[in-house]
Amino acid sequence: MIDRETIDRIFDTAEIVDVISDFVQLKRRGTNYLGLCPFHNEKTPSFNVSPSKGIFKCFGCGKGGNVVQFVMDHEHMSYPEALKYLAGKYNIPVEEEKPSEEDLAQRDMRESMMVLNEFARKYFIRQLTEDEKGRAAGLSYLRERGFTDQMIEKFDLGYCPEGKDEFTNYALGKGYKREFLEKTGLTIVKNDWQADRFSGRVMFPIHSVSGRVIAFGGRTLSTDKKTAKYLNSPESEVYHKSRVLYGIFQAKRAIVQQDVCLLVEGYTDVISMHQKGIENVVASSGTSLTEDQIRLIRRFSENVTILYDGDPAGLKASLRGIDMILEQGMNVKVVIFPDGEDPDSFAKAHTPDEIREYIGNQQEDFIQFKTKLLMEEADRDPVKRAEMVSSIVRTISMLEDNIKQSVYIKAVSKQMEMGEDILYSELQKFRAKNLRDKQKQERRKQIHNRNNLTPAVPAHVTNIIFEEHEKEIITLLLNYGNELLEKDEESGAERSVAHYIINEIRNDALKFENLLYYKLFEQADALIATGKPIDKQHFIQHTDPDVARISAELCTTKYYLHKFWEKRGTFVETAEDNLSEFIPNLIHQYKRKVMQKAQEETNKRIQKAQKNGASQDEIYKLMQEKIKIQKVISLLVENKGIVIMR
Ligand code: CTP
Ligand code: MN
Repeated sequence: MIDRETIDRIFDTAEIVDVISDFVQLKRRGTNYLGLCPFHNEKTPSFNVSPSKGIFKCFGCGKGGNVVQFVMDHEHMSYPEALKYLAGKYNIPVEEEKPSEEDLAQRDMRESMMVLNEFARKYFIRQLTEDEKGRAAGLSYLRERGFTDQMIEKFDLGYCPEGKDEFTNYALGKGYKREFLEKTGLTIVKNDWQADRFSGRVMFPIHSVSGRVIAFGGRTLSTDKKTAKYLNSPESEVYHKSRVLYGIFQAKRAIVQQDVCLLVEGYTDVISMHQKGIENVVASSGTSLTEDQIRLIRRFSENVTILYDGDPAGLKASLRGIDMILEQGMNVKVVIFPDGEDPDSFAKAHTPDEIREYIGNQQEDFIQFKTKLLMEEADRDPVKRAEMVSSIVRTISMLEDNIKQSVYIKAVSKQMEMGEDILYSELQKFRAKNLRDKQKQERRKQIHNRNNLTPAVPAHVTNIIFEEHEKEIITLLLNYGNELLEKDEESGAERSVAHYIINEIRNDALKFENLLYYKLFEQADALIATGKPIDKQHFIQHTDPDVARISAELCTTKYYLHKFWEKRGTFVETAEDNLSEFIPNLIHQYKRKVMQKAQEETNKRIQKAQKNGASQDEIYKLMQEKIKIQKVISLLVENKGIVIMR
């Protein structure tokens, strides 16, 4: 049993393109990657990998799933084995044991903490937007700084009321436990004394990659130099600062699309850039970058551009962090902002085009930038110069490509006025060392793999008569669940696709024949019941490998819906445009099918009862059932509207 936290970590770290590239040659095509499918024989590639969704899908043989599924299928491993393989690849420690009481309690605790954070997020938003004092303090501050309502909403900004423990008491009154208030850090507790950590601050929720709130940053409104400008949630079971990047949830799509991630320092930098339409931005929140954060970026792009508000001391401190980015095989550029400007102030003062142009013109290759920076410092001091050469060549040795390395040696040699041969002999030392390190790692990996080979998990049920309809319904639920289906003009009440589907199925107490689909349905029902949106990642990264696999498969909908439409002879551009017509139609057809089957079965039961000489009473009861069913069928045929079946 691998604990949930480790599984989350494996999912957050493993880059699907990187993992699959160990087995399949992939070529970039738009935001996705394409290659020859390893699961069937083909000459033209139809094997797709989507880094942003974290899934693969072969349009030839239909195989698909998340990164763990790929390893399971390709290497014939069980679910835990595949997880361990990935953990090994990314050096994530896995402690394995039966789930103890303690583990189970911890899992519950994580979930409770997340639920509390979600509650707090909503509360802070209400305080900011609806409460008179909150509006006067928080909202006017944000507006003064020029943030639009749209951005305030997009980043879930809020306000924590002033006072000792207003929020804490409200949460306690709603039944949230003090234990979790303390664990999340929302409340500071000392014996009997309690206080809101973020009292009187503007709140910046910090989201996980999949959009759950795991922590908060709170900015003071006071200009008093003694008050800390920002307070952040403490490290906890749900929040590990070193593994999180602020804004990644809102930025990930744009990072993939533009194939570059802009890295800034602060919350407000991220938001101001978004406000100007530049959305591929994340913040390290004022600390130097960690390896986990780099891996997180790498899931979406190999290119990082660091936007610095240029103070040289800060820059030098972060050089090591940037070396790490290169070590991960990524490309790094640096942009320095004019004196006294940060991305926030710069974005506010310029148009989107001007910002893009500035970044485009100013971005400098990291190695050349580093050389320049160190040269200024080393000047003519021979010891410092030697250190500098070593440091720069070390950086160059991290580049994966030998040609790239020689290009840099040439450039740096000129820049430093130093012979290429000296640099090459230095480079050779680092190359040899890197190679030794790599070989050691390879060997460890191989031993690991050998120990872990057993048969794969059997497939789930297929080929039953409702398969097609059930699959359609679940596919739509997963992909379009959050879309608006209908709006009551009079009352203004809105109904989402998920609400509609869940109501229809629940009202008739229908249960899918395919238990796997039903599992997904129940999960979706639980999300909606607790006021949460249908989050695809929740399904794709589900701990139940069957749920995860089928979700990933169903989330590659375009292909599937397309096929469906053509078959019915009514081709439409996108399913999204026609949800309000298509979905009720589908439910209607599904119900007809269910009723037909019920009819067939009742007929069989009547025949059997007659053959076995059952009592008149019994046969009469069955006949009545049959009549009821027929009535519903004729209603369904007549009326395409909603029909309650019992
Ligand atoms: N930070 C922090 N604690 C502080 C100061 C800063 O955690 N006491 C983090 C925050 O994530 C902040 C980032 O470091 O966003 C950058 O700091 P700074 O540039 O000082 O803040 P800004 O983002 O510019 O905030 P503002 O514009 O509101 O002053
Ligand atoms: Mn600032």
